[in-house]
Amino acid sequence: MKSSSSRGGARLAFLTFASVASSAPMFALGAPGASTEITAPQMIDAFEGTFGVHPGQRRNHIKGTCAAGEFIGTPDAVALSRSTLFSGKTIPVVARFSLGGGNPDVPDAAPAPRGMALEFHLPGGALQHITMINVPIFAAASPASFRDAILAARPDPKTGQPDPEKLKAYAATHPDALALTELTSHHSPTANYYQTTFFSIHTFKFIDAKGAEHLVKWRFVPRDGTKEMTAAEMKAAPHDFLEKNLIERTRKGPVLWDMRIYLGEPGDPQDRPLPRRRHNRRAWPASRSTSTL
Ligand code: HEM
Repeated sequence: MKSSSSRGGARLAFLTFASVASSAPMFALGAPGASTEITAPQMIDAFEGTFGVHPGQRRNHIKGTCAAGEFIGTPDAVALSRSTLFSGKTIPVVARFSLGGGNPDVPDAAPAPRGMALEFHLPGGALQHITMINVPIFAAASPASFRDAILAARPDPKTGQPDPEKLKAYAATHPDALALTELTSHHSPTANYYQTTFFSIHTFKFIDAKGAEHLVKWRFVPRDGTKEMTAAEMKAAPHDFLEKNLIERTRKGPVLWDMRIYLGEPGDPQDRPLPRRRHNRRAWPASRSTSTL
């Protein structure tokens, strides 16, 4: 594939999935000290208290399916990053598509964010991991705020449902959750895993061959376009369809995403997975972007 670039955005690579393997439950790896506000065990306790304990499976994004694919960087990427990920050589990838949350039996039509986690097998045996979800912003400005969201969603033992009063109190005290609530209120879940855009959300640093640093965000844009479910489709949807749809689609040919990179400018926030203002859904100004969300 030829490389191309346009104002504010450059296609860095493409990713294809030609075959799909079954889902692969794994144990969560601890991340001691990763959070400055709460500890990893506190976060895990919150997940397990709300969703139950499911030995051998992930505490979040528990329902998912894996796929094998390839990733090829373009010359645009080489200008920004010295990583072997972008060398232009074909990099084998294992992907895991998932539904956010810790309920292993969640219906596929549920309005949970969809995840794309990628494991790149770099030359020399190193692994590079990235995770993305299919919304451009996160629901929490900090790990503690995310824990509060998980606690607020805990089912009331009497009803088996989250307590509306607790949800109300959470919404009133966590304005950082508002932007994603607003965004998702006028979107419905994606019809499948392969017709949705996945976002890095966070800002990352690319370091080029001369040692210069570039602040970037990225998104994986599907060549199949995007498709959300209609209300009727949501009602008629079977409990499980996302894995089946993906397998059926890959039988017809490879599924492709373009990785688009957005370059930060001086003054752009580096530590905010949220919008600047409520009505602006991007953490960076629109001029950094050439795509429509
Ligand atoms: C405070 C913020 C966050 C917390 C506490 C958190 C927590 C977790 C946990 C506990 C898991 C399960 C890991 C495992 O068992 O292997 C997970 C998985 C995942 N997270 Fe997060 N997460 C956070 C933010 C994010 C963000 C911002 C993104 C997207 C950019 C994201 C995307 C994902 C994805 C895609 C997975 C599934 C990984 C897979 O399929 O292997 N998370 N998260």
